[in-house]
Amino acid sequence: MRAVVQPDGEAVGTYAAELIERRLRENPRLVLGLPTGQTPLPMYAALIRRQREAGLDFSQVTTFNLDEYVGLPAQDPRSYAFYMEKHFFAHVALPRSQVFLPNGEAADPYEEALRYEQLLQSHGGLDLAIVGIGRNGHIGFNEPAERLMARTHVAVLSEETRTANARFFGSPEAVPPTAITVGMAAVGQAKEVLLLASGSAKAAAVAAACSGEVTTHLPASLLQLHPNATFLLDRQAAAQLRDNDGYE
Ligand code: F6R
Repeated sequence: MRAVVQPDGEAVGTYAAELIERRLRENPRLVLGLPTGQTPLPMYAALIRRQREAGLDFSQVTTFNLDEYVGLPAQDPRSYAFYMEKHFFAHVALPRSQVFLPNGEAADPYEEALRYEQLLQSHGGLDLAIVGIGRNGHIGFNEPAERLMARTHVAVLSEETRTANARFFGSPEAVPPTAITVGMAAVGQAKEVLLLASGSAKAAAVAAACSGEVTTHLPASLLQLHPNATFLLDRQAAAQLRDNDGYE
């Protein structure tokens, strides 16, 4: 695991987009794992710019989003499907038949989790997983716990995560209590993982994930075991890394 530190969240986004662009030019049929949230917004904006300015070609790319709230239709502005449409898919020439998210509206979310896992496997898993990190160290909606799930599943959101996401729903109680999320294997078995973090609220989780114990109580710490994982951080998120953590 290596860490790369950039000045701010914008620069994190630009660096991430450049890395995706390099991988895409090497392999136009890239299978990408994608996160939502505040952190990746500059990355999506930079990718859209690269399509416009440098002809970056998404036509053969396949994308799998990491997660979606149970119970929210894609038309709901708080759903991750809506977020992706608004911030990325509506602006790039990526065929919708190659875009996948868990269906938050599925009649049976457990069946939907199984379907999504099989879909992911039928594409051979992820080439490049772009992930964020929660303040509690979650990845996707794999929350800190005694045990983690390897495969796509229905996750119960922690109080901390519902509080962190309350800004979009008005109150923590209004945040859906469950979500469908890929499991740790989708990330652990990706050929490459790029974790993005910006802002001081992530500093403690980032430091613990980079150089603390590998523990299910901090899911991002499992990335220490990955042979090709990069923590891409802004200065604030990197502030608690120790000097000997070997970052660039
Ligand atoms: C969202 C997701 C989450 C976020 C994490 C950080 O699809 O998978 O794990 O990446 O909660 O969110 P932000 O970037 O909003 O701080």
